[in-house]
Amino acid sequence: MAESLAFSKTSGRETLYKEIIPQIKSLVEGESDLIANLANITAVLKEAFGFLWVGFYLEKGGQLVLGPFQGPLACTRINFDQGVCGHAYTTQEIVIVPNVDEFPGHIVCSSASRSEIVLPIFDKSGEIFGVLDVDSDRLSDFSETDAQGLSRITDIITKIL
Ligand code: SME
Repeated sequence: MAESLAFSKTSGRETLYKEIIPQIKSLVEGESDLIANLANITAVLKEAFGFLWVGFYLEKGGQLVLGPFQGPLACTRINFDQGVCGHAYTTQEIVIVPNVDEFPGHIVCSSASRSEIVLPIFDKSGEIFGVLDVDSDRLSDFSETDAQGLSRITDIITKIL
């Protein structure tokens, strides 16, 4: 297993995704434990992009329950009809929120959060399994580049579920 990440600190996001995705693949392919892999994925995303908060909420007993994350303290349980995470889970679509204050029902975990992207994660049978949530302290920080780059990461997760 690689002990450190290699990426160019001055690169734009598109290049950064290209640089880190092969490293994420090789990190997870040698490890069968899901939580260990999700934990390392949050560490890679936090280190490479410096996002405010990166983490997983996984479906357990009819709710989304906090999984591995990096960043400030977060709420532990989210109902499917709550927040951006619940919206991404129920619609099974990627949700980009340019300004969290304008999203009805947004759950404030950190007052520093300004924008957010949430991606659904599916298992191999196509059933929704949980979500990947990324928060930024900057307004309008997420674009189609992030949707595509992070989708490649959720696709890697599907393969190890
Ligand atoms: N803001 C999210 C809740 C999770 S935190 O941002 C870590 C939401 O509205 O679903």
